[in-house]
Amino acid sequence: WVAACEWREELGSTSDYALDAVRANDTPLPLLVVADRQTAGRGRAGRSWLAGDGALTFSVALAPSRFGLSADKLPAASLATALAVCEALEPHLAAPALKPRIKWPNDVYLGDRKACGVLLEAPAADRLVIGVGLNANNRSDAAPPELRDACLSVAEAAGREVDTATLLVGVLAALGQRLRQLGADSSEPIDEANRRSLLTGRRVTVEHGGERVEGLCHGFAEDGALRLESPDGPIRAMLSGTVVAWDA
Ligand code: BTN
Repeated sequence: WVAACEWREELGSTSDYALDAVRANDTPLPLLVVADRQTAGRGRAGRSWLAGDGALTFSVALAPSRFGLSADKLPAASLATALAVCEALEPHLAAPALKPRIKWPNDVYLGDRKACGVLLEAPAADRLVIGVGLNANNRSDAAPPELRDACLSVAEAAGREVDTATLLVGVLAALGQRLRQLGADSSEPIDEANRRSLLTGRRVTVEHGGERVEGLCHGFAEDGALRLESPDGPIRAMLSGTVVAWDA
């Protein structure tokens, strides 16, 4: 379903490249941009995204309406992207204990360590750039000391190198399918995301607009919101925010 592809040895950021292409309006969509190495990778909340050699970093620019997706479906599309990554990783991981899980809104975890981050940006009406940073063959001991224990690559989890092109094709196939399902109002992507939720049943703290909300996680709502039950109130649905702490 990808109409154009750029695969570069090095880019600042695949998402910046895709955003520029969208703004210039000079490329067929969906556009896939892959880089073997990024020198200025960006993460959520203005953070930088650092990944050593062997990571799989790519962005897809698309028109959500071509998938039947209106703007209110974007939080669910963000979960669906993490789900697509989980599904593509699964065949590479023999150990069932390492079932890839989704940490809301769109991180993918292997055990208690992050294997993938997703960044969604909407530069214009009906334009979306989905950036995926997947720890494929990079080594977590090459990460900055404060991140070393918090991340894990697919190769480390699988005990052998993985073929990044196969991984990429797997993510794209699952992503196309999951986005189309969402656009057709199927509950299947969110149901499956719920079966893979890392935080369900745990106490979590979410930061949102300067406010901290604590509660017991009840998984994802149909629109992609995180459902939190606070001790003194009803279940609250959070459509955006950052999970800053959770029970082990
Ligand atoms: C996060 O977990 O904070 C999201 C990380 C997203 C990183 C990817 S790597 C490919 C794309 N290009 C970027 O600059 N960022 C995203």
